[in-house]
Amino acid sequence: MRAIVFDRYGGPEVLHETEVRDPAAASGQLLLRIVAAAVNPADYKWRSGMFATLVPITFPHVLGYDVAGVVTAVGEGVTGFAPGDRVAGLLNPISKGGYAELVTMEAASAARIPKQLDFATAAAVPCACLTGTQIVEEMLRPRAGQTMLLTGATGSVGVAALVAARRCGTKVIAAVRRRHVARARELGADDTVVLGEEDWRRGTFDQVLDTVGGPSVAKRCLHVRPGARICTAATEPIDPTGLPAVPEFVAVHPDGSRLAGLLDDVAAGHIPIRIAHRFPLTRAAEAQRLVERGGLEGKVVLDVGR
Ligand SMILES: NC(=O)c1ccc[n+]([C@@H]2O[C@H](COP(=O)([O-])OP(=O)(O)OC[C@H]3O[C@@H](n4cnc5c(N)ncnc54)[C@H](OP(=O)(O)O)[C@@H]3O)[C@@H](O)[C@H]2O)c1
Repeated sequence: MRAIVFDRYGGPEVLHETEVRDPAAASGQLLLRIVAAAVNPADYKWRSGMFATLVPITFPHVLGYDVAGVVTAVGEGVTGFAPGDRVAGLLNPISKGGYAELVTMEAASAARIPKQLDFATAAAVPCACLTGTQIVEEMLRPRAGQTMLLTGATGSVGVAALVAARRCGTKVIAAVRRRHVARARELGADDTVVLGEEDWRRGTFDQVLDTVGGPSVAKRCLHVRPGARICTAATEPIDPTGLPAVPEFVAVHPDGSRLAGLLDDVAAGHIPIRIAHRFPLTRAAEAQRLVERGGLEGKVVLDVGR
C-alpha cells in the first residue's frame, strides 16, 4: 500500500510517500481501507521530535490518529463489525498509521459512521471529540450549578468539551482569543474572557479544562477555588507555582462506544464539526504546515481513497 512516512525527526519536508507492506487484521482487529484521515496538532509534534525522549518511535513511521473508512476484513473473535461497514476510529496513539491506504485497528476503538455523515466529517471527530468529552465525563465530572473555565473553547477539543460540560448543567466560561468571543457565545458559553488580555474578576472556577497551556492559562488558574481540579490536554505546561491546585495532564484514549455516541451527536447537529481544508494524502506535509500555523477554525482532513 501507499503511505506517507518519515525516517527521522524534522520539519514537514521529512514526510514522503512510499510503498509499505499491507497490514493484516490480528485477533480482535479490523482491517480498514482508509477514505479520510484527520491531521491533528499532535501529528506535527510527533514529526518534530517533541515526544522523542518521552516515547521513542520506530522508523519509518506513519502518522495519523484519526481515520474513517470501510472495513475490508475482520480478525478472529471480532463481533459487531463486518466487511463493508463504514467506520471511524482513534488509532493507538503510539503506533498510529492514519496517513496510509490501509490500517489495522482494535475493533473496540471503532464505531459505525451514521449514514448522514461523510467520511471526512467522521474522520474529524475521534481524537478531538474524545479528548474534550473524556476530560469532562471521566476526569472533571462537573455538577449542575458549578462553574468551569474552558480555554480554547472554540477549538476542536474545546467545542466537544463545551457541549459535554453544558450537558452536565455546568456554567462554562470560555477563555478564548478576542476574535473567537462571538463564536464561543454562539456555541453556548455562558460567559467569556479574552485569554492573555482581560483579567477575570467575576468569581472563582470549580474546574479548569485547558487546551492551550502556558502563562496566560496559569494566570486564569489563580481563580480556581481550593480543591478544584485543573485538567489540561495542552502540550505547553501550566506552571503550578502559586496555584490552588496542581494541573493534571490528560491523554486521550480510544473508546469505540463513546465514539459511537459522539458520531451520533455530530449527525444530529449537537456537536458542530468544521472542515477548514482538505488535501490529498500526497500533500500531507502542506496539511501539517497549515495545522502548525494555527488559526484555522476547523479541522484539516486528508482524502486518502474512495
Ligand atoms: N492530551 C491529549 O491527548 C490531546 C488530544 C488532542 C489534542 N491535544 C492538544 O490540545 C491542544 C488543542 O487541540 P485542538 O485539536 O483543539 O486544536 P485547535 O483545533 O487548533 O484548537 C486550539 C484552540 O486554542 C486556541 N488557542 C491557541 N493558542 C491560544 C492562545 N495562546 N490564546 C488563546 N487561544 C489560543 C486556538 O485559536 P487559534 O486557532 O486562533 O490559534 C484554537 O481556537 C493542542 O495542543 C493539541 O496538541 C491533546
